Amino acid sequence: MRLILLGAPGAGKGTQATRLAKRYAVPHISTGDILREAIKQGSQLGARANCYVREGKLVPDKLILELIRERLGRGDCKRGFIMDGFPRTIRQAEGLNHLLEAVNKRINAAVSIEADQNSLVKRLSARRVCSSCGRNYNLLTYPPKQQGICDLCGGGLIQREDDKEETIINRIRVYDKETVPLKDFYRSKGVLKEVDGRGSVKEVFQRIVDSLNNRLSEGGG
Ligand code: AP5
Repeated sequence: MRLILLGAPGAGKGTQATRLAKRYAVPHISTGDILREAIKQGSQLGARANCYVREGKLVPDKLILELIRERLGRGDCKRGFIMDGFPRTIRQAEGLNHLLEAVNKRINAAVSIEADQNSLVKRLSARRVCSSCGRNYNLLTYPPKQQGICDLCGGGLIQREDDKEETIINRIRVYDKETVPLKDFYRSKGVLKEVDGRGSVKEVFQRIVDSLNNRLSEGGG
């Protein structure tokens, strides 16, 4: 399965990608997670990406494409991948196509998770992330059992620096301008599926799986 998840910040890409990766036994590749980890480690990549991520701007395409080329070259991607947060620009999408064409592969589907702006801001303002294992929580919909503590590993929960309201609004603006055009890009290739992102995590997951089953039965395997 080679799947791309599109959707505005807070649409639920990361939440669903974790589940889909388990379901299809392929790696979950989140450029946002890779960048945040690099920033945390203080690597060269982290130093170059930090100011963009903090302000909710896109990291330059060249840097992202280098990162993806390296990631796709690892053995665990042979059976496929779930892309979360990549591609985000037409240039990134074309870059991904070139990388796949070089190994005679193509995308099976690009699923766009649709959500309205009010619920995006609400969800992201209430998101908390484990500083140790990275698990996602939501104070409104998926709170931890014990306040401020990760249910899985006992790590402390933090708010992402780019989850402040003004940065959220900026990230949504950037998404509308730079990433929404990818829907037409993938529609024209016949691989786009739009899925309603409202409802519970389980409901949205089932919609995505159903849309993938449709896509595969249309000959997208
Ligand atoms: P990235 O980490 O990719 O952030 P994003 O796209 O803004 O997406 P989010 O992680 O905020 O949201 P999500 O859709 O994954 O939602 P989630 O599942 O967490 O990127 C961060 C930054 O890195 C970018 O701004 C940019 O600077 C840089 N970057 C990354 N990739 C790049 C690229 N390719 N090119 C250039 N720059 C790049 O859910 C959100 C919350 O809602 C959670 O609390 C969750 O529990 C809750 N939730 C989820 N689903 C539901 C549901 N159905 N019902 C109720 N609550 C729900």
